Amino acid sequence: MAKPKFITDRAELEKLAPMLKAPILRQVFVCNGKSCSQVGSAEVKAEFERILESKGIRQGKESKGRNPMGSILLNDCGSIGFCSIGVAVMVHPDGVLYGQVQADDVAEIVEQHLENGIVVERLALMKLPNG
Ligand code: FES
Repeated sequence: MAKPKFITDRAELEKLAPMLKAPILRQVFVCNGKSCSQVGSAEVKAEFERILESKGIRQGKESKGRNPMGSILLNDCGSIGFCSIGVAVMVHPDGVLYGQVQADDVAEIVEQHLENGIVVERLALMKLPNG
């Protein structure tokens, strides 16, 4: 396998990965592992998509209904160990791990935490020390 070329030119990097130019504040990961999938992770992710895109703050391609200069990245992730207490949602760089998240909780997480930096304590099961 050919070793990939290491790119140092910032403009070239930004052309290849336009999200580098976005003013990202937070990244949200929704677990789509087997256990979380069985208790509604697809619905939780869909609700994050719906709300973040309606507010115009989800970073991504305009052609996909997202905002290239949006401040929130939304991603899937695999299991983080909350399998019996999912749906698990992580918010970085705050290092907050939410458990038992349902679609009905998403608006509160977006408005309180993602937009205003206030952790939703009733769902926050863990906060990483350097978050
Ligand atoms: S499957 Fe989601 S935390 Fe394990």
